[in-house]
Amino acid sequence: MILDDIKKYFLQYRELYGDEIVIKPEFLKEVFLSKSELLHNFYNEIKDCTKCSLGLTRTNFVFGTGSPEAKMMLIGEAPGREEDLQGEPFVGRAGQLLNRILKAINLEREEVYIANILKCRPPYNRDPDKKEIEMCFPYLLRQIDIINPKIILILGRVAAHVLLDSSDSMALLRGKIHYYKNSKVIVTYHPAALLRNPNLKRPTWEDVQLARKIYDE
Ligand code: URA
Ligand code: URA
Repeated sequence: MILDDIKKYFLQYRELYGDEIVIKPEFLKEVFLSKSELLHNFYNEIKDCTKCSLGLTRTNFVFGTGSPEAKMMLIGEAPGREEDLQGEPFVGRAGQLLNRILKAINLEREEVYIANILKCRPPYNRDPDKKEIEMCFPYLLRQIDIINPKIILILGRVAAHVLLDSSDSMALLRGKIHYYKNSKVIVTYHPAALLRNPNLKRPTWEDVQLARKIYDE
């Protein structure tokens, strides 16, 4: 896979510039660093971010957790109180439920990669605002590019609207396959919504079964 990429790069390079070869360091970095190293470097680049005011009120920057080699990526909205305190996504009540949902489709939290649209907690858990999303969303896109998951499971309406650039209702977003770059994308309810409304458990079960099916394809 990597060798194919290198070969393609040089073939394209020769077409553009002839036989004199100059290797760009950024290219070598992309090809020879593991996903884990790329994520780690990226974390160090952005962990002290103060591009929006949430950088001033956070306790911890919540980058993401799980396997850099994950085939499935889960995307939530923003850290809550527990996540802000611990520096890890989905570790509060919604996170406990998310762990059980993952177990139900035979996945452990450590096998997937979990991240949020925002890396810092909005005060009082209010919805992310436009400026926060504009500043922070590119960080998630870079994480998705590095991990290049086969499937992305979006948790909740807010994350779905941002990642899919849509304003459709959950009723329209659920139950079908969307695409983001190389990844298939499934939308389901946020686990916090399930805690408030147990009627959402059944449709969520259907969504995660579909996600697991795509994962296994
Ligand atoms: N809700 C989210 O959307 N993300 C978290 O990390 C925790 C709760
Ligand atoms: N339903 C669950 O499955 N878990 C909870 O924690 C609460 C409601």
